Amino acid sequence: MRKASNFFLFRVAICASFVILAPLLSAQNEPIKYIGPGSCAATSCHGSVKPVEGSRILQNEYSTWIIKDKHSRAYQALTGDIGERMARILKSGAKAEEAPKCLACHALNPPQDQRGRAFEISEGVSCENCHGPASAWLGPHTTRSWPHEKSVALGMHDTRNIIHRTEKCLECHLGTKNKFVDHEMIAAGHPDLYFELDSFSAVMPRHWKVPRESEPGKPVENAAWVGLREWSTGQAVQLRAAMERLTWRAKFERYDKKEIWPEYSELSCFACHHALGPAKDSWRQEHGYAGRRPGDPAWNSSRYVVFSLLAKQVDSATAQDLERQLAVVSGEMSKLNPDRNTIVSAATAAAPLAMRIAERLETMQYEQAIALRMLQSISDDAENIALADERAAEQATMAMDSLYIAYSKEAKPANAAEVRAAINGLFQQLENPSAYNADQFASALRKIRPLLN
Ligand code: HEC
Ligand code: HEC
Ligand code: HEC
Ligand code: HEC
Repeated sequence: MRKASNFFLFRVAICASFVILAPLLSAQNEPIKYIGPGSCAATSCHGSVKPVEGSRILQNEYSTWIIKDKHSRAYQALTGDIGERMARILKSGAKAEEAPKCLACHALNPPQDQRGRAFEISEGVSCENCHGPASAWLGPHTTRSWPHEKSVALGMHDTRNIIHRTEKCLECHLGTKNKFVDHEMIAAGHPDLYFELDSFSAVMPRHWKVPRESEPGKPVENAAWVGLREWSTGQAVQLRAAMERLTWRAKFERYDKKEIWPEYSELSCFACHHALGPAKDSWRQEHGYAGRRPGDPAWNSSRYVVFSLLAKQVDSATAQDLERQLAVVSGEMSKLNPDRNTIVSAATAAAPLAMRIAERLETMQYEQAIALRMLQSISDDAENIALADERAAEQATMAMDSLYIAYSKEAKPANAAEVRAAINGLFQQLENPSAYNADQFASALRKIRPLLN
């Protein structure tokens, strides 16, 4: 790990001088530029060691990022053994830490003309990767009563908006046609990408106040429902992004114009990567292969299976339309040689439907009853989820976790410890995905149903 303390002091010194300079720069109508995380690190800005009492924000965002957040070490992932070996296997001709293909997600790497000052590429995924280039708003945003909207107009990314926030995370955690992780990279050693906004925000960990302090005209939201809103909205945005990804893949729109179809990382990993044993012990053979020819790898439906239960509850008409399109996607992608035009048309139709539901989920009122209904319906659908895919089981587990945290935050049920243990049991079943057993998972998930009251 980097020597955080020295680095820290050094940054504090740079920042103080820059804050004074910034308004001058933007006054000259310079193009908006990236200026690096050091510009945010002053103790009186975001570099306090502890949260500052009475402040609207925590003010220790920089310290949280540099000490606890893996994003600050994302560049080091490239220089480690696995990263370097990946670069060799992929014959990229450059070391991983010099390959734009890798830096696109592992660092702040804007084109030269958007670099405001000499910041270090080795600082990894930093403030401006998520918050947008800061040269124009850095100065003014430190003044009292400066509204968030003005910063957004000057290039700040609107992470307050949960839809925009999730889109930003997914650029790297799901990929775009300009930066992606495909099966070739996975086979070379890259972890598979999966995401869930609420769980991932907690692991990050969050460097912002939850709930946000009241804004004029808006009531403070109960913290329990913030997590629920993030989980549910994140699910919808994720499905839309997955449909967009499938579309550009089917259209061969990768930036490097390589034509790969079907792209294995769109399929269920464990259709191909599971352990073999005696026929009598195979849960796959026991259940057959609904909707596909035996032996054809299935589509990875994990971004839809759990979400579909939620969609039905909040907007049943749109959910039905979505289901129709997703049935086409799923059926076609679960063939050995899926028809690209069929996929493009169904995925293109599905994306705006997912977005419509995202907008609804972002603004609707949440309450305990919704969390309970979702917990129940996931548990009721145990078999369908478990058989879909190990990744679907993983989404269901993260969902149960997020939902139960929200559900039990206000009034702790008497059997909360028992439910918690049962959810932890689900996580344990996912530890060795190649040995995943759908029947065991379904049975454990179903057992949670009577514990919910
Ligand atoms: C689309 C964005 C994206 C691209 C492009 C990308 N990565 Fe990653 N990488 C990620 C994400 C996100 C993670 C963390 C995954 C997780 O834990 O969920 C990660 C994790 C890793 C890890 C594991 C780190 C750890 O702490 O365990 C290594 C090693 C790695 N990447 C190397 C590379 C290399 C080498 C390249 C270029 C060939 C590359 N990555 C390109 C997004 C990307
Ligand atoms: C991986 C993405 C990511 C990185 C990296 C990141 N942030 Fe954030 N930050 C967020 C998200 C998401 C939020 C919560 C949404 C919001 O309040 O805007 C947030 C919230 C904040 C807030 C609170 C805003 C408010 O109005 O309540 C501050 C201040 C902040 N970040 C500063 C920083 C600083 C300084 C850095 C770098 C040291 C940084 N962030 C790095 C994603 C990130
Ligand atoms: C610019 C690309 C980028 C963006 C944007 C981004 N991430 Fe990441 N994230 C990464 C990379 C790369 C890693 C892997 C770092 C490592 O392990 O060294 C990572 C790792 C993580 C991890 C740690 C995962 C693990 O296995 O421990 C979490 C949690 C996470 N990101 C959450 C988020 C959230 C939440 C957002 C949006 C608010 C977000 N990220 C936005 C690139 C990004
Ligand atoms: C259609 C079948 C298929 C699908 C689906 C598939 N893979 Fe693979 N994978 C392969 C084959 C074939 C190899 C090459 C194995 C070899 O040469 O030993 C491979 C290699 C790998 C390797 C390297 C093997 C090793 O021993 O280290 C990893 C890791 C991997 N895949 C992960 C995944 C992940 C994660 C997914 C889902 C996102 C996935 N695969 C989806 C067929 C598949």
